[in-house]
Amino acid sequence: MELSQTFRGHGLLTAFMFLLINLSLAASSPPQGKSLPYMTSDVEEVAGKSFDYIVVGGGTTGCALAATLSESFTVLLVERGGSPYGNPLVLDKKYYGFSLIQTDDYTSVAQSFISKDGVMNSRGRVLGGSSAINFGFYSRASERFINKVGLDKELVTEAYEWVESRIVSKPELTLWQTVAEFGLLEAGILPYNGFSLEHIEGTKVGATLFDEFGIRHTSADLLEAGNPENITVLLNATVKNVIFCNENRNKSRAHGIRFIKSSGCPDQTHEAYLNQPDESSSWGDVILSAGALGSPQILLLSGIGPQQQLRNFNIPVELDLEGVGQGMKDNPGIALLVDNKPQNRLPDTPQVVGIADDFKIIVEAGIIPVSLNATRMTVAAKVAFPASEGKLELNSSDPRENPSVQFNYLAKEKDLEECVKLSQLLERVARSQSIAMFVGMQHKKNNLMTSEDELKKSCKKNVRTFYHYHGGCTVGSVVDKDHKVYGVEGLRVVDGSTFLESPGTNPMATLLMLGRYQGIKILQEREDTCAVGIQQNP
Ligand SMILES: Cc1cc2nc3c(=O)[nH]c(=O)nc-3n(C[C@H](O)[C@H](O)[C@H](O)COP(=O)(O)OP(=O)(O)OC[C@H]3O[C@@H](n4cnc5c(N)ncnc54)[C@H](O)[C@@H]3O)c2cc1C
Ligand SMILES: *[C@@H]1O[C@H](CO)[C@@H](O)[C@H](O)[C@H]1NC(C)=O
Ligand SMILES: *[C@@H]1O[C@H](CO)[C@@H](O)[C@H](O)[C@H]1NC(C)=O
Ligand SMILES: *[C@@H]1O[C@H](CO)[C@@H](O)[C@H](O)[C@H]1NC(C)=O
Ligand SMILES: *[C@@H]1O[C@H](CO)[C@@H](O)[C@H](O)[C@H]1NC(C)=O
Ligand SMILES: *[C@@H]1O[C@H](CO)[C@@H](O)[C@H](O)[C@H]1NC(C)=O
Repeated sequence: MELSQTFRGHGLLTAFMFLLINLSLAASSPPQGKSLPYMTSDVEEVAGKSFDYIVVGGGTTGCALAATLSESFTVLLVERGGSPYGNPLVLDKKYYGFSLIQTDDYTSVAQSFISKDGVMNSRGRVLGGSSAINFGFYSRASERFINKVGLDKELVTEAYEWVESRIVSKPELTLWQTVAEFGLLEAGILPYNGFSLEHIEGTKVGATLFDEFGIRHTSADLLEAGNPENITVLLNATVKNVIFCNENRNKSRAHGIRFIKSSGCPDQTHEAYLNQPDESSSWGDVILSAGALGSPQILLLSGIGPQQQLRNFNIPVELDLEGVGQGMKDNPGIALLVDNKPQNRLPDTPQVVGIADDFKIIVEAGIIPVSLNATRMTVAAKVAFPASEGKLELNSSDPRENPSVQFNYLAKEKDLEECVKLSQLLERVARSQSIAMFVGMQHKKNNLMTSEDELKKSCKKNVRTFYHYHGGCTVGSVVDKDHKVYGVEGLRVVDGSTFLESPGTNPMATLLMLGRYQGIKILQEREDTCAVGIQQNP
């Protein structure tokens, strides 16, 4: 049982970039005939200006949210990374996975981090966020999840459809995905459900962000919806903290943000503000959509979090809020390499999924680059609902640095037992006739002699991420049901950091939906207060 690791590419980089430039893709410009909002990397253009809403983080959730708010308000969207347009590492399926290998400290589209557990991981650093570096697999959450988090079902469906009509495609299966599909069925992951957007037990084909030409549509493409003229996108700017004001009230109110040039010096800060019309009921919010690492980090840097930790970094305490950085979870995963050695096949994103053991195990297959000229074929599975959790803490007051995070993978016995089941299932898939024949391996007879104890050890040793980490600003502990941060006004968090649990399936679809959903909720809330205001002042 070999584990696939994420390898960091070093050599060949120059040659590779040369190749990219010379291949100059069809995808090197934004979609035609549509309009994206105004984008600038010039901090001076935004410094000192005011907007109705400020969305921090132009990622998966942030873009859907900003587009929606722009239907009635002016929006500033601040993203620490650059533009995805013209970047083949983001857009072209042929280079899928390369962005995870080619990372650097401050500019690459993926920022790598190693959790305190010692597991290598990644997060997006580009407009489009992690939807610009991920596998693009799209699947709605189960009804169980929607009920559990208490969302309005009708609005959820509308929000999913809004996303799907813009950036989601039905895939053509590659040969490897077809082989994997047979492997999942042979291993007994039934029934076969064909193509479906829904999270249903058995083997199914999900949707994808890659279109029929192999071009990725990130969440940034959603910025064309709504009213792009009312959005200003500030790129290559990293938000350091939220600014609060405190006019004779016992609750602080967010009134702007402080940011730096991502390539600049962390002491050279600039500010942007929320519009403050006379009626305070018509003030907008600062909304953090900086992801499961970014949003708790910004709250801590703004003085909202466990006060002892804030003191350690000499950050003035705005609000002692214990929950910030707590409840960090990552679904433990195991990956088997099914080929004998590295080859140079085209990368292939997971498109078929096995949903097994009463939704508790998710199995996928892909072909992932391990260096710039070599790929490996994998089947991999995750524990869908881990009980183990950890925490996030600051490791620097520079907002460009990763905070330190620990997920405590498999710390709870329940997770370890699930991982044993998962490993047994994964082995059945990997040894299926379909897969064994395709990769040209001897179809080994059942010599599954590995004991439970050995499997537990193997799980501990080989655990890896499925990149579905979440938590840090969870609903009920840091934000309320409307995603407003407890104890302050004018500040919300809307992204994967608010999840108590990941939606069972891959989370991206649900985060895109959540951005749209919460945006609509805010627009409705504003309409309601407006109506009240009009009644009161005839
Ligand atoms: C390699 C990988 C593969 C994955 N594959 C899949 C998949 O196939 N299907 C699926 O459903 N899910 C997948 N996921 C998970 C999914 O992509 C993420 O859960 C989801 O995109 C997270 O969305 P988000 O809005 O919470 O954060 P993000 O999309 O990460 O957005 C956060 C944004 O905030 C920005 N930001 C952070 N800090 C600051 C700051 N201080 N100032 C300004 N901007 C800031 C970041 O640059 C980023 O753009 C994958 C994830 C990864 C990393
Ligand atoms: C932009 O937002 C403002 C609110 O600040 C609104 O009055 C205006 O109608 C919007 N612009 C457009 C073109 O919709
Ligand atoms: C923004 O950052 C990206 C990534 O570091 C870089 O490629 C791009 O040139 C930057 N743009 C500007 C205008 O600075
Ligand atoms: C101040 O806080 C107290 C309780 O902590 C609350 O009862 C009161 O309404 C608050 N006042 C204002 C103006 O918000
Ligand atoms: C990748 O390149 C290296 C160095 O040129 C070579 O040794 C290796 O065999 C190549 N791998 C594949 C799978 O082609
Ligand atoms: C914290 O920062 C230090 C120094 O910058 C670094 O050596 C260490 O690896 C970081 N720790 C984590 C958990 O990121």
